[in-house]
Amino acid sequence: MKSIRKPLIAGNWKMHMTVSEGRDFLEALESKLSGQTGADVALFPPFTALYPLRTVARTVRLGAQNMYAEVKGAFTGEISAPMLKEITDLVLIGHSERRHVFKESDDLLNRKVKRALEFGLQPVLCVGETLDERESGATMERIGAQVTAGLNGIEKAAAQKIIVAYEPVWAIGTGRTATPEQAQEVHAAIRGMLAGRVADPQGILILYGGSVKPENSADLLSRPDIDGALVGGASLRVEPFSAIIHNATQPNPA
Ligand code: PGA
Repeated sequence: MKSIRKPLIAGNWKMHMTVSEGRDFLEALESKLSGQTGADVALFPPFTALYPLRTVARTVRLGAQNMYAEVKGAFTGEISAPMLKEITDLVLIGHSERRHVFKESDDLLNRKVKRALEFGLQPVLCVGETLDERESGATMERIGAQVTAGLNGIEKAAAQKIIVAYEPVWAIGTGRTATPEQAQEVHAAIRGMLAGRVADPQGILILYGGSVKPENSADLLSRPDIDGALVGGASLRVEPFSAIIHNATQPNPA
């Protein structure tokens, strides 16, 4: 079944990279990738670099790290779906830092997912449990609540356009990765949760994120329901990021 899903390796730059730094990075990455087709590659630069990097991106798809749920109005500092749609078609929604640092609720994130789809943007809906939730055995319940809330009120055919990213909060930026077994268990559960909410759960990409690096990516990506990676720290340098892309394009027994 996995063979129907082409792996996606995505880099989330967070609040890193000026325009000139981003351009240098992307030029170097593009020249390394030339001819590579085994995995799709995406980068999420800060808003300031998103537009200028379009002229450099050839094989790499660019996306936004966030957007607001309203279309326009008095929302200082925010960016809307129609503004993004002029320059990209991909957007992260509900990254753990949006949920935890900026206190974005499941309800707000659901409104963002709906708005993104309304304007033809592909949302990458991020979900993940905290360490407390994992240790108290509440992982599946929390992930289920996030998936259910995120897709609430969305028709199956429209919901089919989403990508899901599973990022355990305790593994983000901590150097602590979920084991491939832990990650696979949650990915399979998410695919199960998508049944009845999307048209075809087998066609949905589910990415893993949280301290992904070249040393652990091959094992993670070999698991049947892990369709790619959302990479933070290791996406800030060309060498480790391209090594992760390389690992995703190796023949896969799963
Ligand atoms: P990390 O971040 O790879 O630095 O853990 C992942 C993410 O937050 O998307």
